[in-house]
Amino acid sequence: MRLQDKVCLITGGGKGIGAATAEVFCQEGAIVEIADVDDAASLELINKITEKGGEIYTSHVNVTDADSVNKWIDDVNSRHGKIDVLFNNAGISAVGVLHELDESLWDAVTSVNIKGVYLVSKAALPTMIKQGYGSIINMSSCIAEMGLEKRAAYAATKGAVLSMTKSMQVDYAPYNIRVNALMPGTIFTPFVEDYLRRSYDDADKAIAGLKKRQLGPELGTPEDVAYAALYLASDESGYVMGSGLKVDGGVTGGKPY
Ligand SMILES: NC(=O)c1ccc[n+]([C@@H]2O[C@H](COP(=O)([O-])OP(=O)(O)OC[C@H]3O[C@@H](n4cnc5c(N)ncnc54)[C@H](O)[C@@H]3O)[C@@H](O)[C@H]2O)c1
Repeated sequence: MRLQDKVCLITGGGKGIGAATAEVFCQEGAIVEIADVDDAASLELINKITEKGGEIYTSHVNVTDADSVNKWIDDVNSRHGKIDVLFNNAGISAVGVLHELDESLWDAVTSVNIKGVYLVSKAALPTMIKQGYGSIINMSSCIAEMGLEKRAAYAATKGAVLSMTKSMQVDYAPYNIRVNALMPGTIFTPFVEDYLRRSYDDADKAIAGLKKRQLGPELGTPEDVAYAALYLASDESGYVMGSGLKVDGGVTGGKPY
């Protein structure tokens, strides 16, 4: 029970990596609070986890909307009186070369992926500061450090999250709050399926291409990232501060033949 009785908040926890993380955190004894805009996915998750005896709460929260976020954090504080862990996971993709990318898509991806991290952290930090501890995990991506086709806008958001993480760590270290980032490679989730569907005629060929560019043979699973989040959430990572933890099958580690 690596997270026994810890109150862990996960944005975008309704499906994909966030949902897998909610399951792993609950198995480890955490009380999990999910914020998501996808109510159907949240309901499915809450049923699955409560059947197994886990303690989980879900709320309809749009991370780009300050009122929505602030109400969620107020509710969490009323329910539990503390926030041990905040996983800023909610994110959307944006596919396209920059000169063809709609301004509305630029605004959407920067709003969810960057402003969302700012708004939720801003709302949760006063509780962590008051209690004198906390662990914040921000969702970046390996794309923060490498170039990929048609991903300039998305990459910009993940680079921003990585650099935000490092400066947040400097500011909140005096309050015993750790701030780290996760940098996954290609994790096979609805997010990636959607990206593949929209980007390529032949999705199978695209998957084979994605596997080829990494060192490991298979794409990542949501659980691969969930266990990395578990480490950063738990006290075991007490000396890990301001880091970007890669979970990427070696895609940034070297080039396969
Ligand atoms: N899947 C990958 O290969 C991969 C790789 C690197 C980083 N990431 C990042 O991991 C995170 C999760 O990705 P995933 O693959 O699990 O995606 P996903 O689409 O499966 O899940 C994302 C969740 O975020 C929610 N969400 C979207 N906008 C929201 C908003 N405004 N407010 C609240 N919730 C919102 C969605 O409803 C969804 O449940 C994202 O930040 C993504 O950028 C994913």
